[in-house]
Amino acid sequence: MANKPVLLTGIQPSGDLHIGNYFGAMKPFVELAQTGGYQTYVMVVDYHALNTVQDSDQMRRRIREIAMAYLAVGLDPNEIILFQQSAVPAHTELAWIFDAITTMPYLMRAHAFKDAEAKNKEISVGTFNYPMLMAADILLYDTTLVPVGKDNKQHIEITRDTAEKFNRIFKEEVFTLPEGHIQSGVEIVPGTDGQKMSKSYGNVIQLFGSHDDLVKAVMSIVTDSSGERPQNVYAIHKLVRSEEELEQMYTEHKGNYKVLKEFLIEDLDRYFAPIRAKHEELKSDDSIVDLVLEAGKREARAVSETKMEQVRRAIGVA
Ligand code: TYM
Repeated sequence: MANKPVLLTGIQPSGDLHIGNYFGAMKPFVELAQTGGYQTYVMVVDYHALNTVQDSDQMRRRIREIAMAYLAVGLDPNEIILFQQSAVPAHTELAWIFDAITTMPYLMRAHAFKDAEAKNKEISVGTFNYPMLMAADILLYDTTLVPVGKDNKQHIEITRDTAEKFNRIFKEEVFTLPEGHIQSGVEIVPGTDGQKMSKSYGNVIQLFGSHDDLVKAVMSIVTDSSGERPQNVYAIHKLVRSEEELEQMYTEHKGNYKVLKEFLIEDLDRYFAPIRAKHEELKSDDSIVDLVLEAGKREARAVSETKMEQVRRAIGVA
């Protein structure tokens, strides 16, 4: 186990999980984890979410939901290290060290920051520093591969730059440079309005929503009345059904958007049934989530502390 390459991911407990999270990040991650070729770390990145979730009940509930979701999508609790970011102090400590070697102009080039600025949002310091905490998440564990959606590509580049910069300044190869893994074909899962599916745009199809939620979301998919094929419906449909089958279906029911949406509802229902069943099972006995998180915390603390000792020596505070 010790010499396997490290696979790592994180999801924020900041809203209901949606099928964009699933196809963009969770599914590719689970498929790689199931090969057995990796040491696997999975984080609930609650301190990242603190920038947007500032309600203790909501935060507590969502942390558990994310942990449970990871178990429901097929990760084996005995094979992974699943933990809360906040339970491992090394993450914020290393983020501070990265803050000290990173310039403001460099972080001002980050897309997430520029988007927020363009929308004239009042940006928290935590949002500005988000990439530094993410770099710490990844670099603490000598990560090799990080499956993410395309929206996180730049974050991985920042992580690599930061690792290189640290190693250069302190003249020691402390950090391994990670690679991002973006699943081809699902770089950005579109939402019901055709924009990127996102918790913050209110255009999601929930991963664990009710049947009624699903019907409501699919029926609200924006269709372009000028074309014969509703592109926004098709783009989601091809995630759960082969394009050959869809060719036939979309040709046969050309222009009949309602019927095509009904097929999509059926197909999404069928596709996610096993995951939802597992999720229900976990909900009925959630003590397993506590056990897994507790074990994950111990392991992640031990590994990250060893790395931090090396970091502190390299920068000269120890
Ligand atoms: P979060 O919770 O915002 O998103 C979790 C993952 O879902 C992917 N994703 C999508 N992929 C395709 N299409 C979409 N519409 C879509 N929406 C979301 C995101 O790319 C992401 O992979 N920055 C991370 C959290 C994080 C992290 C880490 C990830 C913090 N530290 C360390 C990996 C490693 C994020 O965006 O979370």
